[in-house]
Amino acid sequence: MSQRLRIALQKSGRLADKSLELVESAGLRVVKGANELLYRIENAPIDVLRVRDDDIPTFVADGVADFGIVGLNVLAERSSEGERAPEEVMRLGFGRCALKIAAPESFRYEGPHSLDGVRIATSYPGVLRRFLDEHGVGAEIVKMRGAVEVAPRLKLSQVVCDLVSTGATLEANGLAAVETVLESEAVLIRGRRALDPELQRNAESFVDRVGGVVASRGAKYVMMNAPRSALPQISAILPGAGAPTVTPLAGRDDAVAVHAVCQESVFWETLERLKGAGASAILVLPIEKMM
Ligand code: PRP
Ligand code: ZN
Repeated sequence: MSQRLRIALQKSGRLADKSLELVESAGLRVVKGANELLYRIENAPIDVLRVRDDDIPTFVADGVADFGIVGLNVLAERSSEGERAPEEVMRLGFGRCALKIAAPESFRYEGPHSLDGVRIATSYPGVLRRFLDEHGVGAEIVKMRGAVEVAPRLKLSQVVCDLVSTGATLEANGLAAVETVLESEAVLIRGRRALDPELQRNAESFVDRVGGVVASRGAKYVMMNAPRSALPQISAILPGAGAPTVTPLAGRDDAVAVHAVCQESVFWETLERLKGAGASAILVLPIEKMM
């Protein structure tokens, strides 16, 4: 039986839907069968393992999965344990959140030194320890598996260090963020299992396609006509574009067509500035795929 690539994705939780969506946008047709733990890809020799996010770095590091999508927060915690950590391939631009220190209103926070001698409840003891060490702070870490936000009310700790996304959980528990320990987003990670040449090609193609999907999100294709003399000014205005493609316009020596891929959002204000520089017939188009 030939080998199949394995990609570990969060089964449920903040990254689950978008992770699966990314895999599908990369052209992989996911068959959601009766097996809740494993989805098969119909058009490539790939399986999707559906697991708890905290287990993903271990699966990938141990070669149970070849790739995984996980929050940087989970990956950082695993790396802080000094164990063999999987390789980070790329940031994926979704699932943004931050690991923050949060305290009740009565707690006076004037910087990391305010945490000296304080008890901090967290599910991220490794990342928190590194932060405290960097600031030369001696605090006591109370490890919790979940429901960290209730620790101050139960007098288990004075403050917490927890993941904040919308901030609703903190607010509901009378806590306010006072410090950011780590900014996080979803990342693609890769293991080191040796692959046969065909699977290796599949793996490279998967990485290329995911890279293409991530790059094309938010990117726009911009076209316009412009006086040749305005080219330097127009190149400077286009946000996040490399060298634009410039082609002559039939029967016009003084004007050209300019095409460019802009990696950042193109706002109305940008269009107005392009127009001000002499551009006309400006078109902004979405990009479906990019490689
Ligand atoms: C985090 C965190 C809070 C919540 C914060 O847990 O522990 O409970 O999300 O989100 P909010 O700011 O939008 O309210 P998560 O859902 O990641 O669960 P897990 O840590 O068990 O994976
Ligand atoms: Zn989790």
